[in-house]
This record gives sequence, C-alpha cells and structure tokens, in this order.
Amino acid sequence: MYNDLERIMFDEATLKAKVAELGAVITEEYRGKNPLMVGILNGAMVFYTDLIRQVRIPIETDFMRVSSYGAASVSSGKVKIKKDLDVDIIGRHVIVVEDIIDSGNTMAALLKHLSNRGAASVKLCALFSKPSRREVEVKIDYLGWEIPDAFIVGYGLDYAERYRNLPEVGILKHEVYA
Ligand code: IMP
Ligand code: MG
Repeated sequence: MYNDLERIMFDEATLKAKVAELGAVITEEYRGKNPLMVGILNGAMVFYTDLIRQVRIPIETDFMRVSSYGAASVSSGKVKIKKDLDVDIIGRHVIVVEDIIDSGNTMAALLKHLSNRGAASVKLCALFSKPSRREVEVKIDYLGWEIPDAFIVGYGLDYAERYRNLPEVGILKHEVYA
C-alpha cells in the first residue's frame, strides 16, 4: 500500500493526539447531555471508533450511510439514506462524525435532514476539511485539520474501497487514480 502513496501526511501519533484533543473538547461540552454520536459509514469508521473512546462521559452510538443526490437538489435538503438511524432523535443532542468534508454537498443535506427530525442540537465533527473544494457552506463544529486539495487515503478513508486499513493518512499518487 505504501508504494501507492506520494507521502505520509499524518502519522499514527499525530492522529492519536488530535483525536484525543477532539474527544476532550466533546467531553467538556456534552457533560450531562448524553449525546448521540452518529458515525457516517464507511469513511468515518476508524476515526469514530477511536474518537468515542476519548469521550469520557456517557454517550450513545449509532451509524448512518448516506449519499447526496448531487448539487442540484441540495437546496431542497435531499439526501439519499442508505442506512438510517435505529433510534429516535427528538430532543437529543446529536454529534455527526465524518471523515472529510469536501464539496460539502452530502453533509449540508444530512445536517438539514437531521435538524428537521426534531433534534435538540445537531453538531458536526470532521477529521479533515478541504475548504478550497467547498460548493455549499457547512459549519464544522469540531475539526481536526484543514488540508489542501489532495486526495488522501488511510485511517478509514478510501480510494475504490482500498487503503481504509492504513494506520496513517497519506496522499495517494496521482497515477494510482488517473
Ligand atoms: P462531499 O459531499 O463532496 O463533501 O463528499 C465527502 C465524501 O467524499 C467524504 O465522506 C469521503 O467519503 C469522500 N472524499 C472526499 N475527499 C476525499 C479524499 O481526499 N479521500 C477519500 N475520500 C474523500
Ligand atoms: Mg467515502
């Protein structure tokens, strides 16, 4: 797998430190609120499982799998839900956990959808953001890093379902996906 990488961008220790930092912030902000932490499959799986273990208050867990209908329908807040939540979120404090916000289309639609379901609050925690690629505004409440416009893999992030098991995050060589 490493032969396909241009370079490593974040090593294991760097990722671990950032996840601990995010977990500590969530711990303080959600004390007594019993938040529902929602992992977005599949990309956020590794980040999610590490993050929840750095949150030192009671939480509940659930997962969603979603895809956007594309930019044209975002204004109507449409998101294709491939796997929905198993629990009701009325009155709940929801924290959506995502790997990376790119155009923002998927997340903008999902956040709107969740807010319409009567949650007390909906916040977003994302490990990476590519601001230069944004097509719709998305407020990221808890962010790991802003990164330049490069295609990254590892720590749950994939290219064609590969590299998710890489413990580091690296930039994929252009020739691998060109
Ligand atoms: P958006 O709707 O364009 O923001 O799509 C975000 C989704 O695209 C993420 O959840 C990832 O699954 C995927 N994605 C965007 N950029 C990358 C990347 O650099 N590496 C791997 N997946 C990416
Ligand atoms: Mg993905």
